[in-house]
Amino acid sequence: MYQNRGMLILGIETSCDETGVAVYDGGLLAHAVHSQVSMHDAYGGVVPELASRDHIRRLVPLTREVLSRAGRRTADLTGIGYTEGPGLAGALLVGASFAHALALSLRIPAIGIHHLEGHLLSPLLSEPAPPFPFVALLVSGGHTQLMRVEGMGRYRLLGETQDDAAGEAFDKTAKLLGLGYPGGPALSQLAQSGAPGRYRLPRPMIGSGDLEFSFSGLKTAVLTLVKQAGPAAHADIARAFVDAVVEVLVAKCVRAMELNGLTRLVVAGGVGANRQLRSALGKEAERRGFDVFYPQSELCTDNGAMIAFAAALRLRQGRQDAEHAFSVRPRWDLETIR
Ligand code: KG4
Ligand code: ZN
Repeated sequence: MYQNRGMLILGIETSCDETGVAVYDGGLLAHAVHSQVSMHDAYGGVVPELASRDHIRRLVPLTREVLSRAGRRTADLTGIGYTEGPGLAGALLVGASFAHALALSLRIPAIGIHHLEGHLLSPLLSEPAPPFPFVALLVSGGHTQLMRVEGMGRYRLLGETQDDAAGEAFDKTAKLLGLGYPGGPALSQLAQSGAPGRYRLPRPMIGSGDLEFSFSGLKTAVLTLVKQAGPAAHADIARAFVDAVVEVLVAKCVRAMELNGLTRLVVAGGVGANRQLRSALGKEAERRGFDVFYPQSELCTDNGAMIAFAAALRLRQGRQDAEHAFSVRPRWDLETIR
């Protein structure tokens, strides 16, 4: 369906703390990600200025590496896609200026891609690809949204978090449990050894009847537990937290499919790598007869492959940034794109 040989697209992702680069020609030829996690760890979160500077350092070597692994040369490129937003302004500008400078020198088009569209379409890089329309759950460090996806550029927001994103809740809770940054994967790991049901946390908005979420109250509940129960209970608390978040996410996904009369769910974004979420969705899918699609696991978190792929589809539609004039959009609603 997405074969389009004869094009060779470079994808650049620099919206936050990962430098992602990939080449795509109708199939993914190569991709590489440099994570800045260890650099930001000491500060307990992403330092925007450090992020920008590190993207500058990484982009050229990563691009060389990816092209060489794909067995292609810079001159073979036919287009470049980069993340235009949402994200950190300085970090986005590094990717955008690199992409446009290279595109200008090669006389090829460049196109700015919405980061969430990249995540949303990333399961289409795997086989079997989900056919449109589907419900998409976007769960990352910055977003928790349910979308109805009719096709490329046809996205309707069904509901989203009113406060913290799911990944943010994972990260903040992990910090309370002394697990470092970003703590989502470590928290998930710790929860595996926790006793189910020893503690019970609230399921925020699970009965609200709509498709909105709220996760900021959970960290306060966790903090209270941590103070009361002490370090020996950390694994059980982690378990209680993960069970609460997963139950809410699954319930809202099921509700979104029911309300929309759809039986296909796409899960994208970093939290989509979470094993407890995957297992709970798998059980529910079997019970209710719907299908769940994920990107391959290394493409759940930020990467250049999803940007290269979205760029290939958009360039094929004939879109590109005019005259290499570019801007970035640190804040950008997915629904406003076409
Ligand atoms: O999509 P992503 O790489 O970046 C954003 O666009 O935000 O998502 C990163 C988020 C972080 O909050 C991280 O803790 C979370 O995804 N995450 C996980 C897991 N892997 C990554 N959360 C829970 N379980 C995981 N296995
Ligand atoms: Zn992301």
